[in-house]
Amino acid sequence: MPQDFTASPLRYQSGFANQFASEALPGALPSGQNSPQRAPYGLYAEQLSGTAFTMPRHEARRTWLYRIRPSALHPGFVPLHRQLQGVGLGPGNPNRLRWNPLPMPEAPTDFIDGWVAMAANADADQPGGVSLYHYAANQSMQRVFYDADGELLLVPQAGRLRIVTELGVLEVEPLQIALLPRGLKFRVELLDGEARGYLAENHGAPLRLPDLGPIGSNGLANPRDFQAPVAHFEDRQGAVALVQKFHGQLWGCQLQHSPFDVVAWHGSHVPLRYDLRCFNTLGSISFDHPDPSIFTVLTSPGSVPGQANMDFVIFPPRWLVAEKTFRPPWFHRNLMNEYMGLIQGVYDAKAEGFVPGGASLHSCMSAHGPDRETCARAIAAELQPQKVDQTMAFMFETHQVLRPTRFAMQCAQRQADYDACWAGLPSTFDPDWSPS
Ligand SMILES: [Fe+2]
Repeated sequence: MPQDFTASPLRYQSGFANQFASEALPGALPSGQNSPQRAPYGLYAEQLSGTAFTMPRHEARRTWLYRIRPSALHPGFVPLHRQLQGVGLGPGNPNRLRWNPLPMPEAPTDFIDGWVAMAANADADQPGGVSLYHYAANQSMQRVFYDADGELLLVPQAGRLRIVTELGVLEVEPLQIALLPRGLKFRVELLDGEARGYLAENHGAPLRLPDLGPIGSNGLANPRDFQAPVAHFEDRQGAVALVQKFHGQLWGCQLQHSPFDVVAWHGSHVPLRYDLRCFNTLGSISFDHPDPSIFTVLTSPGSVPGQANMDFVIFPPRWLVAEKTFRPPWFHRNLMNEYMGLIQGVYDAKAEGFVPGGASLHSCMSAHGPDRETCARAIAAELQPQKVDQTMAFMFETHQVLRPTRFAMQCAQRQADYDACWAGLPSTFDPDWSPS
């Protein structure tokens, strides 16, 4: 039997929250019964559930795995000596905060050691909330990891990743994202020597596509552009370090076989990749521009209808054609808490200071908007159709206040003078103004 095996000539299958199915050996997937007395090829059947068994059918996420050895075959886990960087929340802070990119590491650092905790709004054992991280790594993982605390939304900013998972292999590059469901085992390999990006760990309801309402049946992120891998397995013995994140802590044990031994699978709890360049961006073709919710790629619903546990929102290349309109994001104060990052280019609300790999946090009711230079330029502009191009900013937006970590508040990358970008916004009020 070959050591690594992918039977399908396809590398991906398309859809979102579908009942996907894949087998790396013909007939390995039982038909009509999830857990036959004897599965084909002598495989073990194992269910991986990402939601409670009793969730409404359309929200349930689960996958049946047909594997060489069941996951239960492991010794006890012990806490790792080296835990995630930066973990430890400080108090809530109403100030507008902004950070420069983390430097690439100099010491050997794999994807897990490269996580740096930046902000969170819940402890890891809560049924909702998010924890936000940056990552910077210079070594492929030799170990295997799963996150019991939430699903992971991975946003690469630099460096391509090859993500080997129990269900197959995903390759992602900047301008693509990966969704790694809660509990799924994976290993991240670096294809370019170094990698940097952002991670949202979603403790709440799994991310899904937003409803479209009057938009209709097409637009924003289309389901067919989400890609799940096809089955791929290894039949290998030998020591493999398995690490899990559980209740905020890293725990490890040593397996004596590869955990990537799933020969066939079917279900909806699957890793996905999505290319942000596939996003069908909608906007105004008359005047003014819609709220940024029009740019929502994925949403995790919260307990209050319409108030997300987390939205993932992007600001992609797009045409601006609205007439008589202040085109940059307006000045605003709002309920939601906005953690922004930049994958490439320039964000249209900031002239400088917000750079690829950096981040900003605007918390509930904190006043923000275009900086002084962008505002002056927008008011004076002669409006023509204009392409905002070569850019990709994004936002992790959540209804609960994000508390920055103590690391985020104390690190050298934090910009102490962020408020200055709005200082000196002039009063242009003219009490004698009249409509001409
Ligand atoms: Fe905002």
